[in-house]
Amino acid sequence: MTPIKLLILPGDGIGPEVMLEVRKVIDWFASNRGLAFEIDEDLVGGASYDVHGTPLTDAVMDKAQSVDAVLLGAVGGPKYDVLDFSVKPERGLLRLRKEMDLYANLRPAQCFDALAEFSSLKRDVVAGLDIMIIRELTSGIYFGEPRGIVTEGNERVGINTQRYTEAEIARVARSAFELARKRGNKVCSMEKANVMESGVLWRQVVQEVHDTEYADVELSHMYADAGAMQLVRWPKQFDVIVTDNLFGDLLSDAAAMLTGSLGMLPSASLGAPMENGRPKALYEPVHGSAPDIAGQGKANPIACVLSFAMALRYSFDLGDEADLLEASVNDVLAKGLRTPDLGAGEGTRTVGTAEMGDAIVEALSERQ
Ligand code: NAI
Ligand code: MG
Repeated sequence: MTPIKLLILPGDGIGPEVMLEVRKVIDWFASNRGLAFEIDEDLVGGASYDVHGTPLTDAVMDKAQSVDAVLLGAVGGPKYDVLDFSVKPERGLLRLRKEMDLYANLRPAQCFDALAEFSSLKRDVVAGLDIMIIRELTSGIYFGEPRGIVTEGNERVGINTQRYTEAEIARVARSAFELARKRGNKVCSMEKANVMESGVLWRQVVQEVHDTEYADVELSHMYADAGAMQLVRWPKQFDVIVTDNLFGDLLSDAAAMLTGSLGMLPSASLGAPMENGRPKALYEPVHGSAPDIAGQGKANPIACVLSFAMALRYSFDLGDEADLLEASVNDVLAKGLRTPDLGAGEGTRTVGTAEMGDAIVEALSERQ
């Protein structure tokens, strides 16, 4: 097989620590599953600033544009707080997202059985939960013009504009339908077509894309406020949810917390299909660089490991391998292994970052 080209950007703080564990997982798949990887590792964020004076060099940007997928750890840290905004570590990440034009942000809400007790919802409601929220990331009210604070008469007025073009809606809808085909084949689109014209257009375009290109996928529409209620009432009714930037921001945060700790949450940002048919893709944990625990060997590597599982499934059509990896993570949790962020209880054993990574690799071998 042609090797899978990965660009690994560990970044700052716990980024490099958790990425080390992902490297063990990647090595396992290369040795045991006949996958070939061509891996390039480089700098991003503060780590890049320290060496190059910029949080992302043009050379790394070029590499990101040409690989099959980028895997990122985390960026930022107090050491860089004093820097000018233009060279802050976060700017490196923003530049990647912007120049790769990653318009579909994927945030799963996935519940590992062993952690179901930790949810604020009843076990029944979350056990076995596996849904995906796709948030449009590059348009909508966070970007629309006009915007600003203006003075009208003798008072100030704050203005933001929700604006979506047909093309912007259609492309994120396609991402949702493509993804659904690799999962439960079901998409629910959320907007507020009852009170917003942009929502009316959103609903129309999603329906049109469905009817002409993805009629095999089951599609439903829901008002976003009703969707929020349904998400906490019975989240298992959903498979893929696609929604705009603002509603997606809220719904994805809420859904993520149905199940878990920050140290467990993976994410992906996808763009347009490349020549090989794969989408431009950046996979990263939701958490940041966790300066409060960096360098102590106790960060939870699972969010980053699960981000790699998403890459297997959504960039490389390796759904079986992704299943295997997720099942192995569940095995390790079921054995009671916990990094400190996951708490402790009867039958659990607190482990560090490396031990958690080793245990996942061991579980892969046991399942193989
Ligand atoms: P954070 O996500 O880094 O940490 C929040 C809390 O969660 C901390 O107590 C941390 O110890 C804990 N935590 C996070 N990930 C963990 C893991 N894998 N295992 C165990 N515990 C974990 O968010 P915070 O503290 O607001 O930001 C710290 C830095 O990270 C800032 O410079 C911020 O700008 C940056 N950041 C970067 C992101 C990225 O690279 N995508 C996202 C969020 C923040
Ligand atoms: Mg948010």
